[in-house]
Amino acid sequence: MPLQDPAREHRELREEIDAAVGRVVDSGDFVLGEHVERLEERLADRVGVRHAVGVACGTDALTLTLRALGIGEGDEVITSPFTFFATVEAILHVGARPVFADIRPETCNLDPEAVAAAVTDDSAALIPVHLYGQMADMRSLRAIADRAGLALVEDAAQALGAAQRVPEREGWTRAGELGDAGCFSFFPTKNLGSWGEGGMVVTDDRVLADRVRRLRSHGEAGRGRHVEVGWNSRLHELQAAVLDAKLEKLGEWNGRRRAHAAAYDRALEEIDGVEPPAVRAGNRHVYQQYTVRCRDREAVRERLDAAGVESAVYYPTPCHRQEPLASVGYGKEAFPEAEQAAREVLSIPVFPTMREEERGRVIETLDG
Ligand SMILES: Cc1ncc(COP(=O)(O)O)c(C=O)c1O
Repeated sequence: MPLQDPAREHRELREEIDAAVGRVVDSGDFVLGEHVERLEERLADRVGVRHAVGVACGTDALTLTLRALGIGEGDEVITSPFTFFATVEAILHVGARPVFADIRPETCNLDPEAVAAAVTDDSAALIPVHLYGQMADMRSLRAIADRAGLALVEDAAQALGAAQRVPEREGWTRAGELGDAGCFSFFPTKNLGSWGEGGMVVTDDRVLADRVRRLRSHGEAGRGRHVEVGWNSRLHELQAAVLDAKLEKLGEWNGRRRAHAAAYDRALEEIDGVEPPAVRAGNRHVYQQYTVRCRDREAVRERLDAAGVESAVYYPTPCHRQEPLASVGYGKEAFPEAEQAAREVLSIPVFPTMREEERGRVIETLDG
């Protein structure tokens, strides 16, 4: 029983994906063609912003955004210590200094009070991470960023389709909508997964979008004229074609993830020692991961392993204690909530094509 199963997703859409891939192959147009452009338009529309720029992966989406915002040496960028290392890599790649703020224990997302306390004269940007598919408290974080004059970049790699009620705004505010930019990943196991790698930057800011567009293609401003040092970081046409076909299903697939999560939530009310993930009031969680907290994680994992049910720990070591950050100087006690989460979290299978009987087997195993 896998944690995620991208192959099954593809079987559900086999004909559409085959046709889309066939069109790319027949066209011979593999680099920044009509499929990338179409996906950019559709994704911007879906998030509710004006511009989207397809790049090679989610890590590059973050890195190019920071560079495009002019963030670099001497700047501090505040983020969560409890995220995938890529968030921090992006900060380090542009030469800035990562500054961490602890998380809220219920959601594992940045604690706005801790963020406010981490702001200094050198702070230049804030990167909230919408962990596991649930948005961080964007209203509070937007207010802090505005007060301190920080760029607000959403790491929405795990949260395409997630949304939040923000009192001053009508309807749902989507992941990627309230930041100065939002960054998505199309890693195969994400809610919208490619056949390899892919990423997207979304923003309302035309200047920012144009600069990311230039950075993804070697800083080229016109044919043969390179005005800055960029990257080779384009979203591939084949990936865009696959993603475009799958985008039709994203809403339905996120709905199925939520239905599985609701069933897990109900079952876990009766199971001792395994806490379901909390959803903050006003949040629409899209369960990129269904992540429980366990009193005795090793015992739970052993039971799951023995029953052939895959599980994973995202993340066993918070970023501030990863080796490349040794010189930044955070100790083991610096972020107690992140440390506790690292000891207790466990992600269990959740994916749109998971069958009810498979979910039942996971629940039975959790129940011991
Ligand atoms: C929170 C977070 N940020 C950034 C990334 C980086 O995305 P990618 O793997 O597409 O480079 C990921 C993906 O795994 C992620 O989960």
